[in-house]
Amino acid sequence: MDSASYINLEERAGAHNYHPLPVVIAHAEGAWVTDVEGRRYLDFLSAYSALNFGHRHPRLTQVAHHQLDRLTLTSRAIHSDQLGPFCAELTDLVGLDRALPMNSGAEAVESAIKTARAWGYRSKGVPGGEAVILVAQHNFHGRTTTIISFSDDPVAHDDFGPYTPGFEVIPFGDLEALRTALGNPNVVAFLVEPIQGEAGIIVPPEGYLRSVAQMCRDANVLFIADEIQSGLGRTGHTLACDAEGVTPDVVLLGKALGGGIVPISAVVSRDDVLGVLRPGEHGSTFGGNPFALAIAREVIAILATGEYQQRSAELGQHMLDRLTSEAPATVREVRGRGLWAGVEVHEQYAPVRPRCEVALDLGVIVKDTHSTTMRLAPPLTISRDDLDHGIDVVLKVLG
Ligand SMILES: Cc1ncc(COP(=O)(O)O)c(C=O)c1O
Repeated sequence: MDSASYINLEERAGAHNYHPLPVVIAHAEGAWVTDVEGRRYLDFLSAYSALNFGHRHPRLTQVAHHQLDRLTLTSRAIHSDQLGPFCAELTDLVGLDRALPMNSGAEAVESAIKTARAWGYRSKGVPGGEAVILVAQHNFHGRTTTIISFSDDPVAHDDFGPYTPGFEVIPFGDLEALRTALGNPNVVAFLVEPIQGEAGIIVPPEGYLRSVAQMCRDANVLFIADEIQSGLGRTGHTLACDAEGVTPDVVLLGKALGGGIVPISAVVSRDDVLGVLRPGEHGSTFGGNPFALAIAREVIAILATGEYQQRSAELGQHMLDRLTSEAPATVREVRGRGLWAGVEVHEQYAPVRPRCEVALDLGVIVKDTHSTTMRLAPPLTISRDDLDHGIDVVLKVLG
Protein backbone atom coordinates (compact mmCIF):
# COMPACT_ATOMS: atom_id res chain seq x y z
CA MET A 1 0.00 0.00 0.00
CA ASP A 2 1.30 3.51 -0.76
CA SER A 3 1.16 6.62 1.47
CA ALA A 4 -2.01 7.98 -0.14
CA SER A 5 -3.87 4.70 0.49
CA TYR A 6 -2.87 4.67 4.18
CA ILE A 7 -3.95 8.28 4.58
CA ASN A 8 -7.26 7.64 2.80
CA LEU A 9 -7.94 4.65 5.02
CA GLU A 10 -7.25 6.71 8.12
CA GLU A 11 -9.48 9.51 6.84
CA ARG A 12 -12.30 7.05 6.22
CA ALA A 13 -12.07 4.87 9.33
CA GLY A 14 -10.38 7.05 11.95
CA ALA A 15 -11.68 9.94 14.03
CA HIS A 16 -10.55 13.28 12.65
CA ASN A 17 -9.09 14.61 15.90
CA TYR A 18 -5.65 15.33 14.41
CA HIS A 19 -4.35 17.10 11.31
CA PRO A 20 -1.08 15.26 10.68
CA LEU A 21 1.56 16.11 8.10
CA PRO A 22 1.00 13.96 5.00
CA VAL A 23 3.72 11.37 5.56
CA VAL A 24 3.33 7.68 6.50
CA ILE A 25 6.23 6.28 8.51
CA ALA A 26 7.07 2.60 8.46
CA HIS A 27 10.54 2.51 10.00
CA ALA A 28 12.76 4.68 12.17
CA GLU A 29 16.21 4.74 13.70
CA GLY A 30 17.92 7.47 15.72
CA ALA A 31 16.96 10.88 14.34
CA TRP A 32 15.71 9.49 11.01
CA VAL A 33 12.37 8.04 9.90
CA THR A 34 11.51 6.29 6.63
CA ASP A 35 8.13 6.36 4.92
CA VAL A 36 6.34 3.50 3.20
CA GLU A 37 7.86 4.51 -0.15
CA GLY A 38 11.37 4.42 1.33
CA ARG A 39 11.92 8.20 1.57
CA ARG A 40 13.95 9.31 4.61
CA TYR A 41 13.16 12.30 6.81
CA LEU A 42 15.04 13.95 9.65
CA ASP A 43 12.80 14.02 12.74
CA PHE A 44 12.89 17.54 14.20
CA LEU A 45 9.76 16.97 16.30
CA SER A 46 10.62 13.87 18.39
CA ALA A 47 6.96 13.09 19.08
CA TYR A 48 6.68 16.27 21.15
CA SER A 49 9.72 15.24 23.27
CA ALA A 50 8.61 11.63 23.79
CA LEU A 51 11.56 10.65 21.59
CA ASN A 52 14.26 12.58 23.44
CA PHE A 53 16.60 9.61 23.01
CA GLY A 54 15.74 9.14 19.35
CA HIS A 55 13.93 6.26 17.73
CA ARG A 56 14.75 2.79 19.02
CA HIS A 57 17.72 3.74 21.19
CA PRO A 58 19.70 0.46 21.40
CA ARG A 59 19.93 0.45 25.20
CA LEU A 60 16.18 0.95 25.47
CA THR A 61 15.15 -1.64 22.88
CA GLN A 62 17.50 -4.15 24.48
CA VAL A 63 15.86 -3.69 27.89
CA ALA A 64 12.40 -3.84 26.27
CA HIS A 65 13.20 -7.15 24.55
CA HIS A 66 14.63 -8.56 27.75
CA GLN A 67 11.63 -7.49 29.84
CA LEU A 68 9.16 -8.85 27.24
CA ASP A 69 10.65 -12.27 27.84
CA ARG A 70 10.35 -12.03 31.64
CA LEU A 71 7.24 -10.17 32.83
CA THR A 72 4.96 -7.54 31.29
CA LEU A 73 1.92 -6.95 33.48
CA THR A 74 0.83 -7.67 37.03
CA SER A 75 -1.66 -4.88 37.85
CA ARG A 76 -1.12 -3.23 41.21
CA ALA A 77 -3.07 -6.00 42.95
CA ILE A 78 0.29 -7.71 43.44
CA HIS A 79 3.89 -6.47 43.52
CA SER A 80 6.49 -6.66 40.76
CA ASP A 81 10.28 -6.60 41.01
CA GLN A 82 10.31 -3.35 38.96
CA LEU A 83 8.13 -0.95 40.95
CA GLY A 84 10.26 -0.46 44.07
CA PRO A 85 13.51 0.05 42.13
CA PHE A 86 11.75 2.40 39.66
CA CYS A 87 10.37 4.60 42.46
CA ALA A 88 13.72 4.69 44.26
CA GLU A 89 15.69 5.50 41.10
CA LEU A 90 13.24 8.16 39.88
CA THR A 91 13.03 9.90 43.25
CA ASP A 92 16.85 9.92 43.40
CA LEU A 93 17.01 11.50 39.95
CA VAL A 94 14.49 14.20 40.82
CA GLY A 95 15.47 14.74 44.47
CA LEU A 96 12.07 13.95 46.03
CA ASP A 97 10.65 11.14 48.21
CA ARG A 98 7.87 9.21 46.48
CA ALA A 99 6.70 8.37 42.97
CA LEU A 100 3.32 7.36 41.56
CA PRO A 101 3.48 5.84 38.05
CA MET A 102 0.61 6.28 35.61
CA ASN A 103 0.37 5.99 31.80
CA SER A 104 -0.33 9.18 29.85
CA GLY A 105 0.75 12.69 30.70
CA ALA A 106 -2.84 13.76 31.24
CA GLU A 107 -3.23 11.00 33.85
CA ALA A 108 -0.21 12.29 35.73
CA VAL A 109 -1.81 15.76 35.75
CA GLU A 110 -5.15 14.33 36.91
CA SER A 111 -3.35 12.38 39.63
CA ALA A 112 -1.60 15.55 40.80
CA ILE A 113 -4.90 17.43 40.89
CA LYS A 114 -6.48 14.74 43.06
CA THR A 115 -3.41 14.58 45.30
CA ALA A 116 -3.29 18.36 45.72
CA ARG A 117 -6.98 18.53 46.60
CA ALA A 118 -6.67 15.67 49.13
CA TRP A 119 -3.56 17.34 50.58
CA GLY A 120 -5.50 20.60 50.85
CA TYR A 121 -8.35 19.00 52.82
CA ARG A 122 -6.34 16.57 54.93
CA SER A 123 -3.19 18.52 55.60
CA LYS A 124 -3.74 22.23 54.94
CA GLY A 125 -7.26 22.27 56.40
CA VAL A 126 -9.15 23.75 53.44
CA PRO A 127 -12.94 23.32 53.91
CA GLY A 128 -14.38 20.34 51.98
CA GLY A 129 -15.11 21.00 48.30
CA GLU A 130 -13.52 24.49 48.40
CA ALA A 131 -9.99 23.77 47.08
CA VAL A 132 -8.69 26.03 44.32
CA ILE A 133 -5.81 25.20 41.98
CA LEU A 134 -4.10 28.06 40.15
CA VAL A 135 -3.08 27.51 36.54
CA ALA A 136 -1.42 29.71 33.93
CA GLN A 137 -2.93 31.39 30.90
CA HIS A 138 -2.24 29.51 27.65
CA ASN A 139 -1.50 26.34 29.62
CA PHE A 140 -1.48 22.93 28.05
CA HIS A 141 -1.71 19.95 30.40
CA GLY A 142 -3.59 17.37 28.32
CA ARG A 143 -7.02 16.53 26.99
CA THR A 144 -9.22 15.09 29.73
CA THR A 145 -12.45 16.89 30.61
CA THR A 146 -11.07 18.28 33.89
CA ILE A 147 -7.85 19.49 32.25
CA ILE A 148 -9.55 21.18 29.30
CA SER A 149 -11.90 22.85 31.78
CA PHE A 150 -9.09 25.31 32.59
CA SER A 151 -7.69 25.65 29.06
CA ASP A 152 -8.13 29.02 27.35
CA ASP A 153 -7.56 27.51 23.91
CA PRO A 154 -11.05 27.44 22.34
CA VAL A 155 -10.14 24.45 20.17
CA ALA A 156 -9.27 22.39 23.25
CA HIS A 157 -12.08 23.75 25.41
CA ASP A 158 -15.23 24.75 23.53
CA ASP A 159 -18.19 22.36 23.27
CA PHE A 160 -16.79 19.94 25.85
CA GLY A 161 -18.58 21.34 28.91
CA PRO A 162 -19.95 21.22 31.53
CA TYR A 163 -16.58 22.01 32.99
CA THR A 164 -14.86 21.00 36.24
CA PRO A 165 -14.79 23.87 38.75
CA GLY A 166 -12.00 24.68 41.19
CA PHE A 167 -9.40 26.34 38.96
CA GLU A 168 -8.29 29.95 38.60
CA VAL A 169 -6.29 31.14 35.61
CA ILE A 170 -3.52 33.71 36.10
CA PRO A 171 -1.06 35.16 33.54
CA PHE A 172 2.11 33.11 32.97
CA GLY A 173 5.35 34.73 34.17
CA ASP A 174 3.50 37.31 36.30
CA LEU A 175 4.57 37.17 39.95
CA GLU A 176 2.25 39.96 41.06
CA ALA A 177 -0.77 38.07 39.71
CA LEU A 178 0.44 34.99 41.58
CA ARG A 179 0.89 36.99 44.79
CA THR A 180 -2.68 38.29 44.56
CA ALA A 181 -4.14 34.87 43.79
CA LEU A 182 -2.25 33.29 46.69
CA GLY A 183 -4.18 35.61 49.00
CA ASN A 184 -7.09 33.14 48.80
CA PRO A 185 -6.57 30.68 51.70
CA ASN A 186 -8.35 27.92 49.76
CA VAL A 187 -5.61 27.77 47.14
CA VAL A 188 -3.89 24.38 47.40
CA ALA A 189 -1.58 24.38 44.38
CA PHE A 190 -0.14 26.26 41.44
CA LEU A 191 0.07 23.95 38.41
CA VAL A 192 2.41 25.33 35.76
CA GLU A 193 4.72 24.34 32.90
CA PRO A 194 8.23 25.72 33.65
CA ILE A 195 8.44 26.51 29.93
CA GLN A 196 5.13 26.52 28.10
CA GLY A 197 5.38 24.03 25.25
CA GLU A 198 2.18 24.02 23.24
CA ALA A 199 1.81 27.77 23.77
CA GLY A 200 4.93 28.21 21.62
CA ILE A 201 8.01 27.46 23.78
CA ILE A 202 7.41 30.42 26.09
CA VAL A 203 10.33 30.86 28.49
CA PRO A 204 9.38 32.82 31.65
CA PRO A 205 11.48 35.74 32.91
CA GLU A 206 14.73 34.80 34.69
CA GLY A 207 14.06 34.05 38.35
CA TYR A 208 10.35 33.35 37.87
CA LEU A 209 10.48 29.70 38.93
CA ARG A 210 12.61 30.49 41.98
CA SER A 211 10.14 33.14 43.09
CA VAL A 212 7.16 30.87 42.38
CA ALA A 213 8.71 28.20 44.61
CA GLN A 214 9.34 30.70 47.41
CA MET A 215 5.92 32.34 47.21
CA CYS A 216 4.14 28.98 47.17
CA ARG A 217 6.19 27.82 50.16
CA ASP A 218 5.34 31.02 52.07
CA ALA A 219 1.62 30.55 51.33
CA ASN A 220 1.60 26.80 52.13
CA VAL A 221 0.61 26.04 48.53
CA LEU A 222 2.03 23.23 46.40
CA PHE A 223 4.15 24.21 43.41
CA ILE A 224 3.36 21.56 40.78
CA ALA A 225 5.75 21.67 37.81
CA ASP A 226 4.41 19.97 34.71
CA GLU A 227 7.70 18.77 33.19
CA ILE A 228 5.99 16.30 30.88
CA GLN A 229 7.34 18.06 27.78
CA SER A 230 10.14 20.19 29.27
CA GLY A 231 11.72 17.50 31.44
CA LEU A 232 14.19 14.65 31.05
CA GLY A 233 16.98 16.44 29.23
CA ARG A 234 15.04 18.50 26.71
CA THR A 235 16.19 21.89 28.01
CA GLY A 236 19.80 20.92 28.75
CA HIS A 237 18.92 19.96 32.33
CA THR A 238 17.24 16.91 33.83
CA LEU A 239 14.29 19.20 34.66
CA ALA A 240 13.66 22.67 33.27
CA CYS A 241 13.34 23.82 36.91
CA ASP A 242 16.99 22.82 37.48
CA ALA A 243 18.02 25.91 35.47
CA GLU A 244 16.96 27.98 38.49
CA GLY A 245 18.05 25.46 41.12
CA VAL A 246 14.45 24.85 42.14
CA THR A 247 12.89 21.59 43.35
CA PRO A 248 9.10 21.86 43.06
CA ASP A 249 6.81 20.18 45.60
CA VAL A 250 5.39 18.00 42.83
CA VAL A 251 7.02 17.11 39.50
CA LEU A 252 5.03 15.59 36.64
CA LEU A 253 6.85 13.49 34.08
CA GLY A 254 5.71 11.63 30.98
CA LYS A 255 6.59 11.42 27.31
CA ALA A 256 10.38 10.69 27.27
CA LEU A 257 10.08 8.63 30.46
CA GLY A 258 8.87 5.80 28.20
CA GLY A 259 11.96 6.02 25.98
CA GLY A 260 9.81 6.41 22.88
CA ILE A 261 8.60 2.83 23.35
CA VAL A 262 5.80 2.82 25.93
CA PRO A 263 3.45 5.33 27.54
CA ILE A 264 4.44 5.92 31.13
CA SER A 265 4.05 8.99 33.29
CA ALA A 266 4.71 9.75 36.93
CA VAL A 267 3.91 12.07 39.79
CA VAL A 268 6.98 12.62 41.96
CA SER A 269 6.64 14.41 45.25
CA ARG A 270 7.45 14.64 48.91
CA ASP A 271 6.36 12.16 51.54
CA ASP A 272 3.98 14.65 53.16
CA VAL A 273 2.19 15.23 49.84
CA LEU A 274 1.95 11.90 48.00
CA GLY A 275 1.64 10.26 51.39
CA VAL A 276 -1.92 11.62 51.70
CA LEU A 277 -3.24 9.04 49.20
CA ARG A 278 -4.77 5.98 50.84
CA PRO A 279 -5.19 2.48 49.40
CA GLY A 280 -8.06 2.30 46.91
CA GLU A 281 -8.35 6.05 46.32
CA HIS A 282 -6.42 6.17 43.06
CA GLY A 283 -4.94 3.83 40.50
CA SER A 284 -4.78 2.44 37.00
CA THR A 285 -4.64 -1.14 35.72
CA PHE A 286 -1.65 -0.48 33.49
CA GLY A 287 -0.10 2.23 35.70
CA GLY A 288 3.23 0.94 36.93
CA ASN A 289 3.28 -2.12 34.68
CA PRO A 290 6.67 -3.86 34.82
CA PHE A 291 7.25 -3.63 31.06
CA ALA A 292 7.02 0.17 31.06
CA LEU A 293 8.88 0.44 34.36
CA ALA A 294 11.86 -1.56 33.07
CA ILE A 295 12.19 0.78 30.08
CA ALA A 296 11.73 3.88 32.26
CA ARG A 297 14.44 2.59 34.62
CA GLU A 298 16.85 2.47 31.68
CA VAL A 299 15.80 6.03 30.71
CA ILE A 300 16.60 7.10 34.28
CA ALA A 301 19.97 5.31 34.11
CA ILE A 302 20.78 7.07 30.83
CA LEU A 303 19.86 10.45 32.34
CA ALA A 304 21.85 9.77 35.51
CA THR A 305 25.08 10.08 33.49
CA GLY A 306 24.19 13.65 32.41
CA GLU A 307 25.46 12.96 28.88
CA TYR A 308 22.27 13.90 27.06
CA GLN A 309 21.56 16.92 29.23
CA GLN A 310 25.01 18.20 28.19
CA ARG A 311 24.45 17.41 24.51
CA SER A 312 21.11 19.20 24.69
CA ALA A 313 22.70 22.26 26.29
CA GLU A 314 25.60 22.45 23.81
CA LEU A 315 23.78 21.57 20.60
CA GLY A 316 20.80 23.64 21.77
CA GLN A 317 22.95 26.73 22.16
CA HIS A 318 24.30 26.15 18.67
CA MET A 319 20.75 25.76 17.30
CA LEU A 320 19.54 28.89 19.06
CA ASP A 321 22.59 30.90 17.92
CA ARG A 322 22.09 29.88 14.30
CA LEU A 323 18.33 30.46 14.34
CA THR A 324 18.81 33.88 15.89
CA SER A 325 21.73 35.08 13.78
CA GLU A 326 20.47 33.69 10.46
CA ALA A 327 16.75 34.36 10.93
CA PRO A 328 15.08 35.70 7.77
CA ALA A 329 12.89 38.83 7.90
CA THR A 330 9.74 36.71 8.35
CA VAL A 331 10.84 35.84 11.90
CA ARG A 332 9.52 37.91 14.81
CA GLU A 333 11.17 36.02 17.66
CA VAL A 334 13.25 32.94 18.41
CA ARG A 335 12.76 31.40 21.85
CA GLY A 336 14.13 28.28 23.47
CA ARG A 337 16.22 26.40 25.94
CA GLY A 338 18.41 23.40 25.09
CA LEU A 339 17.35 21.52 21.98
CA TRP A 340 13.88 23.04 22.12
CA ALA A 341 12.97 26.13 20.16
CA GLY A 342 9.97 28.07 18.96
CA VAL A 343 10.42 30.27 15.92
CA GLU A 344 7.59 32.76 15.70
CA VAL A 345 6.87 34.54 12.41
CA HIS A 346 5.25 37.96 12.01
CA GLU A 347 1.47 37.74 11.70
CA GLN A 348 1.50 38.45 7.96
CA TYR A 349 3.59 35.31 7.33
CA ALA A 350 1.20 33.04 9.28
CA PRO A 351 0.11 30.31 9.18
CA VAL A 352 3.42 28.45 9.33
CA ARG A 353 1.79 25.11 8.52
CA PRO A 354 2.46 25.39 4.73
CA ARG A 355 6.12 26.07 5.54
CA CYS A 356 6.18 22.86 7.60
CA GLU A 357 4.79 21.04 4.55
CA VAL A 358 7.60 22.46 2.39
CA ALA A 359 10.12 21.32 5.03
CA LEU A 360 8.57 17.85 4.79
CA ASP A 361 9.07 17.88 1.00
CA LEU A 362 12.70 18.78 1.70
CA GLY A 363 13.00 15.83 4.11
CA VAL A 364 12.66 17.46 7.54
CA ILE A 365 9.74 16.95 9.93
CA VAL A 366 8.80 20.10 11.88
CA LYS A 367 5.41 21.11 13.20
CA ASP A 368 3.56 24.33 13.88
CA THR A 369 1.98 25.22 17.18
CA HIS A 370 -0.89 27.68 16.89
CA SER A 371 -0.54 29.49 13.60
CA THR A 372 2.58 31.63 14.03
CA THR A 373 5.16 29.38 15.68
CA MET A 374 7.29 26.60 14.28
CA ARG A 375 8.42 24.29 17.04
CA LEU A 376 11.75 22.48 16.86
CA ALA A 377 12.63 19.58 19.15
CA PRO A 378 15.21 17.28 17.56
CA PRO A 379 16.19 14.13 19.47
CA LEU A 380 18.96 14.79 21.99
CA THR A 381 20.94 12.02 20.26
CA ILE A 382 21.14 13.93 16.95
CA SER A 383 24.57 14.46 15.37
CA ARG A 384 25.81 17.98 14.83
CA ASP A 385 25.82 17.49 11.05
CA ASP A 386 22.23 16.30 11.03
CA LEU A 387 21.25 19.17 13.31
CA ASP A 388 22.86 21.68 10.94
CA HIS A 389 21.12 20.06 7.99
CA GLY A 390 17.75 20.41 9.73
CA ILE A 391 18.43 24.03 10.68
CA ASP A 392 19.43 24.80 7.05
CA VAL A 393 16.05 23.49 5.86
CA VAL A 394 14.12 25.32 8.58
CA LEU A 395 15.82 28.62 7.70
CA LYS A 396 15.16 28.01 4.02
CA VAL A 397 11.42 27.39 4.44
CA LEU A 398 11.09 30.40 6.75
CA GLY A 399 12.75 32.66 4.18
C1 LIG B 1 3.13 20.04 29.37
C2 LIG B 1 2.25 18.88 29.01
N1 LIG B 1 1.50 18.31 29.95
C3 LIG B 1 0.70 17.27 29.68
C4 LIG B 1 0.61 16.76 28.40
C5 LIG B 1 -0.32 15.61 28.12
O1 LIG B 1 0.39 14.45 27.86
P1 LIG B 1 -0.34 13.22 27.13
O2 LIG B 1 -0.54 13.63 25.71
O3 LIG B 1 0.64 12.08 27.26
O4 LIG B 1 -1.61 12.98 27.85
C6 LIG B 1 1.37 17.34 27.38
C7 LIG B 1 1.27 16.83 25.99
O5 LIG B 1 1.68 17.45 25.04
C8 LIG B 1 2.21 18.43 27.69
O6 LIG B 1 2.93 19.03 26.75
